[in-house]
Amino acid sequence: LIRQQTDLPLSGKKVVVTAGGTKERIDPVRYITNDSSGKMGYQLAMAARDKGAKVVLISASTQLKHPFGMEVVAVESAQQMSDAVFKEFESADIVIMAAAVSDYTPETQATQKIKKKENQMVISLAKTQDILATMGQQKSHQFLVGFAAETHDVAEYAMGKLEKKNADMIVANDVSKPHAGFNKETNEVTLFSKDTPPIELSVRSKRDIADSIIQEVIQKLSK
Ligand code: CTP
Ligand code: CA
Repeated sequence: LIRQQTDLPLSGKKVVVTAGGTKERIDPVRYITNDSSGKMGYQLAMAARDKGAKVVLISASTQLKHPFGMEVVAVESAQQMSDAVFKEFESADIVIMAAAVSDYTPETQATQKIKKKENQMVISLAKTQDILATMGQQKSHQFLVGFAAETHDVAEYAMGKLEKKNADMIVANDVSKPHAGFNKETNEVTLFSKDTPPIELSVRSKRDIADSIIQEVIQKLSK
């Protein structure tokens, strides 16, 4: 017997979460990617689900199992992630960009394996679309959460991203810390939002970090 939960804080809300690192193809056997494991995004998706939300998890390739009780959309590149996000955007109430989206992508993708020739080779890269900033320009009712992965001047950069991308919250991640960031089981973050002092979440499991982020979003939406 499945009982419909209608009394949870995110019941009736649609939450879109992106996770993992995008892969930008150079040729059929090679790509550019990053160290994102997808763990933080998956925990956020599960935390939102457990608060009653209808969750769409847009996932770049990870080693993680698909969580139950949500729709999982598999994507590879930044462009594919953008297409998947904007398909859901209008009907979303909350969008959480936990994915590490590549900032650049090869200008051209070779359809056949590139053979080695000269001693040097140059791959020309073009900037990708900033998905979060584009949503920030287009948003009507949506609550936008972004991440900021930094190694230095964390608060300054995070507040800059909040402003420039027109996000409602930025989760700042000091990825130079040993218990935080890419591919770790734990995280340590600071939440920046407009008109509220930053909230520091000391080292704890990614699930606990996710619960605190979702809790904070719920609180902001109820105001
Ligand atoms: N982001 C995005 N689209 C991109 C790049 C980033 O939506 N093409 C999102 C990320 O998912 C994250 C936020 O923007 O939520 C910040 O990403 P980050 O890499 O920290 O910042 P950038 O704006 O890309 O700047 P930089 O990498 O130079 O710090
Ligand atoms: Ca970036």
